[in-house]
Amino acid sequence: MKAALKKKLSARQYELLRMLSYEWKRAKCRMLSPRSYKPNTEQLHLGCGDRHLEGWLNVDLWGSDLNLDIAAGRLPFPEECFNVIVSQHVIEHLSIQDELIPLLKECHRNLKPSGSIWLSTPDMEKAARSYIDHRNRDMIEDRQKRLPHWSLNGLPDQHFMNDLFHQELEHRNLFDFDLLKWTLEQAGFTQVERVDEQALQAAYPAFPSRNDDYQSVYVKATK
Ligand SMILES: C[S@@+](CC[C@H](N)C(=O)[O-])C[C@H]1O[C@@H](n2cnc3c(N)ncnc32)[C@H](O)[C@@H]1O
Repeated sequence: MKAALKKKLSARQYELLRMLSYEWKRAKCRMLSPRSYKPNTEQLHLGCGDRHLEGWLNVDLWGSDLNLDIAAGRLPFPEECFNVIVSQHVIEHLSIQDELIPLLKECHRNLKPSGSIWLSTPDMEKAARSYIDHRNRDMIEDRQKRLPHWSLNGLPDQHFMNDLFHQELEHRNLFDFDLLKWTLEQAGFTQVERVDEQALQAAYPAFPSRNDDYQSVYVKATK
């Protein structure tokens, strides 16, 4: 079905159709999700994809423990109910001012005092350095180590940068550490530090490796 549509439609039409389908899933989620929800764990995993971790409340738009549109401006949880929130490679899918800052404010409200949020996302600074120094060849090789079937479909290496910025219209923004720190501060977080995937896994071994430090920025922010 996907391949047939891709063949029949122009790239722009295909991307718009995917966006419409994403928006439809979000709208359905908003209509069906509970207005309030009392979690039975103190660990929240936002935008889990197919990584369902035991002992965590795994949230995504579909197929998760609790299907939610996390960009809807409100999370259904009581105040100060989580010790920790983790979200890997999700925030780049949200608009900063009308989706991400409201989400992070909700995370701040839902965290216990001294609770922390861990975020990772593609690193704009690493991508820019890689473009200047290597026209992104190093990042392409790094990605292909993790995703052997991924390719630029014959386009020259610097197209990697375009792909990272829009990813078939899925991505809204890229972040460097400073932009991410500023965004977290807008939501009330005061201590924001740069970490890496190893630090996340040392604190929470349930997280399977993404092996993506080469292209990602990881931060930990404390309430
Ligand atoms: C690139 S995947 C990352 C999945 C997983 N965190 C990982 O590290 O493999 C992004 C995930 O964010 C989810 N997502 C994007 N926008 C969302 C939204 N508004 N509400 C809930 N989940 C969302 C997508 O459905 C997808 O599963």
